[in-house]
Amino acid sequence: MQKLEVFGANKLKGQIEISGSKNASLPILAASLLSNKKVYLNNIPRVKDIETMTSLLKSLGSIINLKNNKLIIDNSKQNKKFASYSLVKTMRAGILVLGPLLAKFGNAKVSLPGGCAIGTRPVDIHLNALSKLGVKYKIVQGYVYATAPKGLMGNKIRFSKISVGATENLIIAASLAKGTTILSNCAIEPEIKDLVNFLIKSGCNIKWIAQRSLKITGVKEISNISYSIMFDRIEAGTYLIAAAVTEGNLKIKNVIPKVIKTEINILKKIGTKINIKKNEIHIIGNKKIKSINIKTAAYPGFPTDLQAQIMVLLCKANKESTIKEDIFENRFMHVAELNRMGAKISTSGNKAKVNGNIDFAGAELMATDLRASVSLILAALTAKGKSVINRIYHLDRGYENIEKKLKKVGAKIRRVN
Ligand code: EPZ
Repeated sequence: MQKLEVFGANKLKGQIEISGSKNASLPILAASLLSNKKVYLNNIPRVKDIETMTSLLKSLGSIINLKNNKLIIDNSKQNKKFASYSLVKTMRAGILVLGPLLAKFGNAKVSLPGGCAIGTRPVDIHLNALSKLGVKYKIVQGYVYATAPKGLMGNKIRFSKISVGATENLIIAASLAKGTTILSNCAIEPEIKDLVNFLIKSGCNIKWIAQRSLKITGVKEISNISYSIMFDRIEAGTYLIAAAVTEGNLKIKNVIPKVIKTEINILKKIGTKINIKKNEIHIIGNKKIKSINIKTAAYPGFPTDLQAQIMVLLCKANKESTIKEDIFENRFMHVAELNRMGAKISTSGNKAKVNGNIDFAGAELMATDLRASVSLILAALTAKGKSVINRIYHLDRGYENIEKKLKKVGAKIRRVN
């Protein structure tokens, strides 16, 4: 089992190039199933979740050619409709093939995604909304058996709760449905906008008719296209916080700053200096970090995927801060590990109280989920002494070349077997 060794404390200095977005790539890969032609994707991040999704597509009959950050998918012979547990269990986004398979074939058998460290991760919102497009389904031994006997029929659907995955599944399914679908109370994460842009470019008829509402008129098929995936805003936010927590000086490149204006405003509010250029954010850390109370929310609120990372920074603040995790029911798995490094964080339900003025000390640590694992790295970078982070397969799911990018800006970090 591989581990990461990190020797702190170091100030990060230099520039970091941000990769393509994992969470935009995954729904776009699923949506490529709608096409019977070749789809050319650029700026694909080389991370484990992409590998898992391409293995899932191959198991469905797609022909995949992945070289560096370019991916060609040929679905001309794709004809299978069974997504197995072995592939879906490690990556929840596997459920996103359900919508396109139903749209294309009118039936599918897709494994329910396993739960994960951060919560049970149900798919009830996906299934209830799909049934409004005429889908009949039953769940047998952990699989969704779904059919659309008369094909998918457009309808008016209001999501009972904002869900990124359910919004994505329905956008993809409705794109080939007969007639018009109105989706309301949609998630509006930038990755969803990227999916919509990809589908419009491939010939789909989709329009935003209100902040959280879409009008989708089904088309017969989608044309073959090439598309470049947006930047990974969570990776960008992670490195901004890394600069702040190490009192460093970083230029974050290949980004669109306005997409992460919430995060930038919060980092400015707690005391870092930030200059913005067209595709670059220059951040200078500050010894004095002001405490702040944060709650995670659906976009454009503060992202739950940066909650663990900002918690590390708030341990360095001048007094106590609070964090309320409003998206997932169990996303404080990193707290116990941070407390072993000297943090003083207490949690009650979905609220965390984060004491300030902490000096982290290196320790032997255990990663539990993707974003928790990167928060341990941030703490280790500013900790005195050596830290060892175990189970870094969690990290490899979503951060491309993280040691290389950090080493380049002065971190003392290495992967050991
Ligand atoms: C997406 O997960 C992201 N994953 C997550 O990023 C991100 O944390 C999450 O959106 C919220 O922004 C990908 O894009 C691949 P949801 P998703 O459906 O779609 C509940 C990362 O680190 N819910 O918006 O699964 C759910 O349990 C990952 O990159 C239902 O109850 O998130 C959660 O509490 C982690 N029923 C809340 O809604 C459903 O049918 C939000 O989930 C669906 C969701």
